[in-house]
Amino acid sequence: MLELVSSWSNVHSLPEDYVFPTDKRPGEVIAPACKTIPVINLQDAIGNNRNDMIQQILNASQEYGFFQVINHGVSETLMDDTMKLFKEFFDMPDEDKASVYSEDPSKSCRLYTSSYNYANEKVHFWRDNLKHPCHPLEEWVHLWPERPIRYRDVVGTYSLEVRDLSMRILELICEGLGLQPGYFGDELSEQQLLSVNHYPPCPEPSLALGLPKHSDPNLITILLQGDVYGLQVFKDGQWIGVEPITNAIVVNIGHQLQIISNGKFKSAEHRAVTNLRDPRTTVVTFISPSYKSVVQPADALLDEFNPPIYTSFIFKDFLINYTANDGYTEAALEPYKIL
Ligand code: OGA
Ligand code: NI
Repeated sequence: MLELVSSWSNVHSLPEDYVFPTDKRPGEVIAPACKTIPVINLQDAIGNNRNDMIQQILNASQEYGFFQVINHGVSETLMDDTMKLFKEFFDMPDEDKASVYSEDPSKSCRLYTSSYNYANEKVHFWRDNLKHPCHPLEEWVHLWPERPIRYRDVVGTYSLEVRDLSMRILELICEGLGLQPGYFGDELSEQQLLSVNHYPPCPEPSLALGLPKHSDPNLITILLQGDVYGLQVFKDGQWIGVEPITNAIVVNIGHQLQIISNGKFKSAEHRAVTNLRDPRTTVVTFISPSYKSVVQPADALLDEFNPPIYTSFIFKDFLINYTANDGYTEAALEPYKIL
């Protein structure tokens, strides 16, 4: 419990075990927030601009693996409420956080710090994380935190709205790729995991990382980053910042969507940097296949000129290999590549 970075007070220098090696640390130069990561207006789903908008989603997923959505249908009040609630959660006194804290990675709802592998990792990440499943709600809600008292109410409503948004985005992708309607509707999107990161101000942001370079192992990720900068994407050998836009939601492609699209979409590598002054909280929703799902490039995308570039596998096996390789992109995908 003592290790939670949100519970430290008066940290004036960065402890040694948070200093990343030279080639992995952010350094003094802060990557500028990038104005070219597409911002897509989801309202265009209804009306004459639908096909255009779907094309924008496809292009963004191909080129960046990232885009932001506006007019997405998740209410602004609910987004504000959810963000406020999680800030309150991480500001709670240690006794309250202790009831959710656990070092056991098999626990479905837990608060912990750095990674699932705190005891063995070389360098710790400057973040605390709260994780729990959300779907179907009735199955999980009784395991969620009980404090702040509004927790289950607010997060329950947020989870349902984000699920609805995720399914709408997946359906647009489905249509754009020419897959049969509902392709992602059942097993491939069955799991919904909420993962809330809290990055307190860091005494030496140039040496530390909130989250090191990784790609997400799931299907698609839906992220609220609030107004504080910190998310960076690795594109063409360079880090670019994802601009915080009030009320926009960040969407990124996970490994499973890269594989199902037969490499058309990119599961881009990204990381979270810290800063000296402002605490940063991000509310991340991972949509994933069920563990027993078979994942493979979609048939509709394959023909004699477009052979599959990945083999089929069971999602659970993919995750085991991903975790064993600490999320390194190459190692995570290697066993499934067809040369
Ligand atoms: C993640 C992630 C980025 C952020 O949780 O997988 O990449 O800005 N988060 O918190
Ligand atoms: Ni991520």
